[in-house]
Amino acid sequence: MATGIPKTNWRSPAATSNGKGSLDVFLSYDGKKSEAEILTAMPAKLTQLWPKRRKQDMDNRLCFGENLSILAALANDVEVCGKVKLVYIDPPYATKSVFQSRKQAEAYADLLEGAHYLEFLRERLVFLSKLLADDGSIYVHLDENMAFHAKAIMDEVFGRANFRNWITRKKCNPKNYTRKTYGNVADYILFYSKTDEYIWNRSVELWTPIRAAKEYQYSEPGTGRRFKKVPVHAPGVRNGETGKPWRGMLPPPGKHWQYPPSTLDKMDARGEIYWSSTGNPRRKIYFDQSDGVPVQDIWMDFRDAHNQNICITGYPTEKNPLLIQRIVEASSNEGDLVLDCFSGSGTTLDVAHRLKRRWIGTDNSAEAIKTTLTRFATGLEPMGDFVKKLEEVERLESEEPTLPMLELLQSSNGKNGNGSSHSPICEFTLFATEPYDDCLSHALREWETTRREQEMVAV
Ligand SMILES: C[S@@+](CC[C@H](N)C(=O)[O-])C[C@H]1O[C@@H](n2cnc3c(N)ncnc32)[C@H](O)[C@@H]1O
Repeated sequence: MATGIPKTNWRSPAATSNGKGSLDVFLSYDGKKSEAEILTAMPAKLTQLWPKRRKQDMDNRLCFGENLSILAALANDVEVCGKVKLVYIDPPYATKSVFQSRKQAEAYADLLEGAHYLEFLRERLVFLSKLLADDGSIYVHLDENMAFHAKAIMDEVFGRANFRNWITRKKCNPKNYTRKTYGNVADYILFYSKTDEYIWNRSVELWTPIRAAKEYQYSEPGTGRRFKKVPVHAPGVRNGETGKPWRGMLPPPGKHWQYPPSTLDKMDARGEIYWSSTGNPRRKIYFDQSDGVPVQDIWMDFRDAHNQNICITGYPTEKNPLLIQRIVEASSNEGDLVLDCFSGSGTTLDVAHRLKRRWIGTDNSAEAIKTTLTRFATGLEPMGDFVKKLEEVERLESEEPTLPMLELLQSSNGKNGNGSSHSPICEFTLFATEPYDDCLSHALREWETTRREQEMVAV
């Protein structure tokens, strides 16, 4: 693998010829407003729907309504503006489709396209950037339709330097379609931070015995500690300490030592340097000091609920809670405020709540809000063939575990999909922009009834 040498001070001739050339790229399209114009959007007037009398818990808010005006209202709220640590959004993808729930209820339409779509997204991103805390991050989930354009727009809004990852997620099982293309099983998550000082709890995947044995092949004589060997040098010539000889050896051409010779001496004294029979030093990395394999930018394990037999709400395009869990854990801490302004079935809100974050969710689909309330009250429902799957799990349990069986076992784990029984989420306030839908009043009555029933069961 060739490793390039960063040239951080290098400027292209075009950028330096007149002393002010910019390398930034801007996307131009009809109807593109200035950021100042976007920020004049009219803030929503929010009515509290639940609980009826008191302000319950302003930390957690579920808002029914058009998100641009709600974001504008949040931008005027000193408790929220500049305090949001994590935004995850999974907006419409410009698919030119309308979506229904598994029970055939109208959920939402995704009909904007081209420049209209892009400006719709950009308006919301401009507000989200304002709402983010300086150590906050934003993740935008899209597919191949608009991810490329959205990247260019996010570079403009958040700054190219704050781009962190383009995450590729495997969203479903291989397809057997007959089109003359490769099967399309990926979608994408664009991760930006507000600044370069952002919350980051590195995610790791736990070692499997086979993977660990492959990676850490050596055993240290005397201690038996397993280790792997890595170079003690890195690309690039340095003139300081790390470019000087160590034990009579210069770093290889075009390289420098990773540590000054004095530090390498100390590492060697501690037994952390491996010397080959030809006298080449290598650094030992010990297995017992590794928490796991750091997560990379291709995520294979989070197919959506509809593509695996786990519990779901039945809302179209609902995301896998474990995917959201990875993001919430990596980019926020307990007590932090998490925002999803396209919250759909409430996956982000549910996960954030269970991970002890505060949250705000908005959606303009009554079906989405109804689904979220049901999810909060009663949890997720097994998919159609769930019962059959359980029988299969029981049959397979007596056999040798195979990968499909392990997947099946993981996917059949109780009502929350994580083996735990459901505990209702009641600590939030529900708001709506005027006028709110009749069917939402019905959903609210159902929510009240279910919640009371739950309380009685608990007593
Ligand atoms: C892809 S779905 C989100 C699914 C969600 N991540 C989940 O796990 O259930 C997109 C959601 O955005 C909502 N939406 C679209 N345009 C909106 C707008 N202008 N304001 C508020 N919500 C909107 C839709 O109603 C839909 O529920």
